[in-house]
Amino acid sequence: MANDIQFRRPKIGPYFSRLRHHWAWNAKSLLTPGQALRDRVQGKVVLLTGASSGIGEGVADKLADAGATLLLVARNADKLEAIATGIRKRGGRAFIYPGDLTDLDECDRICQQALADHGHVDILINNAGRSIRRSIKFTVNRFHDYERTMQLNYFAALRLAMNLLPVMEARDEGHIINVSTVGVQANPARFSAYLGSKWALEGWTWVAANEYAHTNLRFSSINYPLVRTPMIAPTKIYDYLPVMSPETAVNWLLDVVITQNKRKLGIFGKGALAMYYLLPKTSESIVNLSYQSLFETPPADYVSRKARGENRVMDTAEGHNDSKVAPFRARDSQHRA
Ligand SMILES: NC(=O)c1ccc[n+]([C@@H]2O[C@H](COP(=O)([O-])OP(=O)(O)OC[C@H]3O[C@@H](n4cnc5c(N)ncnc54)[C@H](OP(=O)(O)O)[C@@H]3O)[C@@H](O)[C@H]2O)c1
Repeated sequence: MANDIQFRRPKIGPYFSRLRHHWAWNAKSLLTPGQALRDRVQGKVVLLTGASSGIGEGVADKLADAGATLLLVARNADKLEAIATGIRKRGGRAFIYPGDLTDLDECDRICQQALADHGHVDILINNAGRSIRRSIKFTVNRFHDYERTMQLNYFAALRLAMNLLPVMEARDEGHIINVSTVGVQANPARFSAYLGSKWALEGWTWVAANEYAHTNLRFSSINYPLVRTPMIAPTKIYDYLPVMSPETAVNWLLDVVITQNKRKLGIFGKGALAMYYLLPKTSESIVNLSYQSLFETPPADYVSRKARGENRVMDTAEGHNDSKVAPFRARDSQHRA
């Protein structure tokens, strides 16, 4: 059995050059961010998903203006074309690759076309995302909530990476940026489907970073707090909360492009992480308090406890009488399902 084990001499030289580059690019990003961005992306090919709206739209403009060739991906071809036209008018290079990323064949097709057109992709930004805001108890008849978030936020991102990684490896150059959320640190209630998929994406990111640390391939994750984009528009309570502006969110992503840092996490995320590990029960109580305090309209397809023949019909957490809920009727969530 022992004969089956084979060792190779590991390369440790790349760790030192990586450290040097890390400090140099972080300093550049801090002192001269505009120049640093141009130095990093001039002539590079960037495949950006979710480019038709919100954070992606802003990032597309900035990267193209800094000299990158943008390959824009989303479902809405008209919106992508309008963004690409704007970039071209300013002298930049942009191409559109419309498609529904929840279809894995579409992911393959987009990547194959992109590689045929441009030979390689230097930076893949997995930014397209779907969020669903719903309590676990209201998802008992909605397993598809979990499938939908996994399909776009996890499997599509991986499928694009699987298509592009071999060429990145062959060129020993590439950067994959996966857009995540501070929910992974804070674990807010009602986001089990969304956060499960983002946790999965982050898990993959960290393993990939560990496996490729001796190469010039880099992997990053960004943990955004709430950002004022169309994604959160349907949830009215967010109108009254201080949330990050799209401009700041775009700058966060550009900073990760420049520095290639593994994680971008703000002060709130760091605090939430510390709370979670140091005072887990207190952190749980705080989240639960906010969960109990907010009323949530159940989806129309929610089968009430009463309908299932149970005695208690008053739901104390939500304060509503769920015996009044209409029977099965498919409907999407109030956040973005
Ligand atoms: N906004 C926030 O508060 C917040 C917080 C934390 C993390 N994030 C993350 O930030 C990223 C960007 O979100 P955003 O706020 O900019 O949202 P957004 O404005 O709603 O944009 C979402 C993008 O994803 C694309 N998309 C959705 N479904 C798709 C599909 N099936 N195939 C291809 N593209 C699809 C949309 O384009 P089409 O509709 O044209 O397909 C759109 O371009 C997401 O990963 C999100 O999870 C956002």
